[in-house]
Amino acid sequence: MAPLHLLLLFFFFFFHLRLPSSLSLTEDGLRLLEAKRLLSDPSGALSDWQSSDPSPCNWTGVSCSPPSATTAASTARSVTSLDLSNLNLSGPFPPPLCQLPNLASLSLSLNSFSCALPSSSLLPCSSLTHLDLSQNEFTGPLPSSLSSLPSLLYLDLSANNFSGPVPPSFSRFPSLQYLSLVGNFLSGPFPSHLSALSQLRELNLSYNPFSPSPLPASLSNLT
Ligand SMILES: *[C@@H]1O[C@H](CO)[C@@H](O)[C@H](O)[C@H]1NC(C)=O
Ligand SMILES: *[C@@H]1O[C@H](CO)[C@@H](O)[C@H](O)[C@H]1NC(C)=O
Ligand SMILES: *[C@@H]1O[C@H](CO)[C@@H](O)[C@H](O)[C@H]1NC(C)=O
Ligand SMILES: *[C@@H]1O[C@H](CO)[C@@H](O)[C@H](O)[C@H]1NC(C)=O
Repeated sequence: MAPLHLLLLFFFFFFHLRLPSSLSLTEDGLRLLEAKRLLSDPSGALSDWQSSDPSPCNWTGVSCSPPSATTAASTARSVTSLDLSNLNLSGPFPPPLCQLPNLASLSLSLNSFSCALPSSSLLPCSSLTHLDLSQNEFTGPLPSSLSSLPSLLYLDLSANNFSGPVPPSFSRFPSLQYLSLVGNFLSGPFPSHLSALSQLRELNLSYNPFSPSPLPASLSNLT
């Protein structure tokens, strides 16, 4: 093949391979748009979530990892934090949120999210350290898979409609420091198994219809 042909071939492949990645939205952005499609946003709070943007890093509620020294490109930054609190959002929990591989902090607080929270949709959220789902209308049992999230430090499920007992798995969070289950419809015996959480600094179980029982001595070593 003549050198000119080789050169043309090179440019063809170069542009062919480069164009899609430089013009289209990042994987994280696509997952966020998928999540948006699954929720109801009557106030248009997420109207700046646009598929024409190269990156979701400037979108309402979205924070990304800092640009690295080697690549300043916004498309190389991943979504690390989502604060969608108080935006009038409703619908079931959107599972694509947990497909953001580097998501460390997620707040959906003060919205009207409802329905049960399937254990399977939270399981992929393996980078989460902070999860705040407080002040929504989630129903059904507490998702037992939450305690499988290896890095979770902060969990606020207060002021929802969760019901049933606190799952046995809740005594196995590896590093949880803060847990609030205030103001739900949790019942059954008082969850004294939570005393096994050795890293816990703050626990609040107020306003739940647990069966009356004396405060277990095992919880008195929490300060
Ligand atoms: C984000 O917004 C800033 C300031 O408005 C702008 O300079 C930057 O180019 C935007 N980045 C992206 C990825 O849209
Ligand atoms: C939420 O909806 C209420 C009533 O529809 C409206 O008054 C309020 O401004 C909305 N809040 C936001 C953050 O959009
Ligand atoms: C949650 O509980 C409140 C208080 O009982 C009730 O008014 C509301 O309808 C419930 N919401 C859902 C989605 O079950
Ligand atoms: C637990 O939460 C309730 C309701 O928000 C609050 O009044 C109470 O002070 C909290 N208790 C502790 C120990 O933080």
